[in-house]
Amino acid sequence: MQPRASPLPHARSGSHSPVASYLRLCYQRCMTTTHAAAKPRAVEFFAGVGLVRMALEVAGAGVVFANDISPSKARMYELNFGNADFVLGDIAEIKGTDIPDAEIATASFPCTDLSLAGNRAGLNGRESGLVGEFLRILKEMGDNRPTAVMLENVAGFATSNGGRDLLTTLEALNELGYYCDIAALDARRFVPQSRPRLFVIGSIDPPSTSYVPDEWVSLRPRWVTHLLAENPQLRTFSFPLPPLPSDSEQTLDDLAERLAPADAAWWDDQRTSRFLSSLSHINEERAVALRHAPCLTRRTAYRRTRGGKAVWEIRGDSISGCLRTTRGGSSKQALVEGGHGELRVRWMTATEYARLQGAPAFRWGTMPETQVRFALGDAVCVPAVAWLAHNYLLPLVTGMPATEVTAPSTYRELAYAE
Ligand SMILES: C[S@@+](CC[C@H](N)C(=O)[O-])C[C@H]1O[C@@H](n2cnc3c(N)ncnc32)[C@H](O)[C@@H]1O
Repeated sequence: MQPRASPLPHARSGSHSPVASYLRLCYQRCMTTTHAAAKPRAVEFFAGVGLVRMALEVAGAGVVFANDISPSKARMYELNFGNADFVLGDIAEIKGTDIPDAEIATASFPCTDLSLAGNRAGLNGRESGLVGEFLRILKEMGDNRPTAVMLENVAGFATSNGGRDLLTTLEALNELGYYCDIAALDARRFVPQSRPRLFVIGSIDPPSTSYVPDEWVSLRPRWVTHLLAENPQLRTFSFPLPPLPSDSEQTLDDLAERLAPADAAWWDDQRTSRFLSSLSHINEERAVALRHAPCLTRRTAYRRTRGGKAVWEIRGDSISGCLRTTRGGSSKQALVEGGHGELRVRWMTATEYARLQGAPAFRWGTMPETQVRFALGDAVCVPAVAWLAHNYLLPLVTGMPATEVTAPSTYRELAYAE
């Protein structure tokens, strides 16, 4: 079979960037080797700006339908993937009969009511409760429903409403004929960002072997095994997976933008003083250590409210905290750069958000940085989802083993090779 011209629209045309070439190469290899016979098709709900799609495509699947309600995210999705498969609108308006045939369905549903920073209404909440619409659509698809599903959300999904929300979701998937597995995966394995996420994988026709070796404990932590053991009524399965890569060796310094000290993005003296005066003793010590570092070093900082007062906390390590949507400003991350006796603070840039999500070639055209940061903070980390898609979803639906084409170590390269 002739390799098709790469349809990866995020690979800038005419660009010779290594990441674009790498993605093209991965895609062409996927087309001509493992998945040439039957390239799995995927439909994605809560598609946002399409980073789940990016991960699925890197792993060798083709997305044939996507839905999201946000017009600004739809514009970014279009800039990167075109709009041929994208349906803009409320998932509540979508019917099972509207969905094309596919082997995989993904739902990266809103975390607003599940995250520890949110209201913890759980699946009773207006936004996170939308997972019910995804389940309704699967039900309406009847025998045409995809054989595998992947749900993605924050780790708080496991504890929301005392664990009942996750349990109810697993039971609902069981009722639709899906056996379930749970995986906990932190993006820090692939990029310098702490981003723990929970994945539920459902399969209508799972493999019969269910041996889980000890080294998988990082992917299926003890609470997962307990949950499954305590609920024998659940129909579950597990799938042989390679060991997870160890934490990424890259640091924030490797992918922070190098802005000149005179760049307008750096905060003025007044704002920087307010930042510094809000620091607790331990954070002040970190700021002093940064200022006197022998070379320029960067850390991220979060604004929190302590006793009704806004305070800043500087991370003690060299990775970024979890990127979030920037509703209300409190979850926005700042970047602190210090060394040679100087210290500067600024907001992180959209470029840094894209790199930390493992999507350095992501495009946003002339859209405002705040919108881009908002959207990317809500998105997934591409190499983490690509690892799962490559090692789990695709072998699950094709019955073929994962190849070496996009081995875990190369997923990491996605984030840095620009
Ligand atoms: C956690 S984000 C998913 C982000 C996505 N995975 C990405 O890579 O950008 C949840 C998404 O659900 C979308 N959403 C919220 N309410 C919706 C609704 N009623 N119908 C469809 N999409 C909705 C939001 O616009 C948001 O993009």
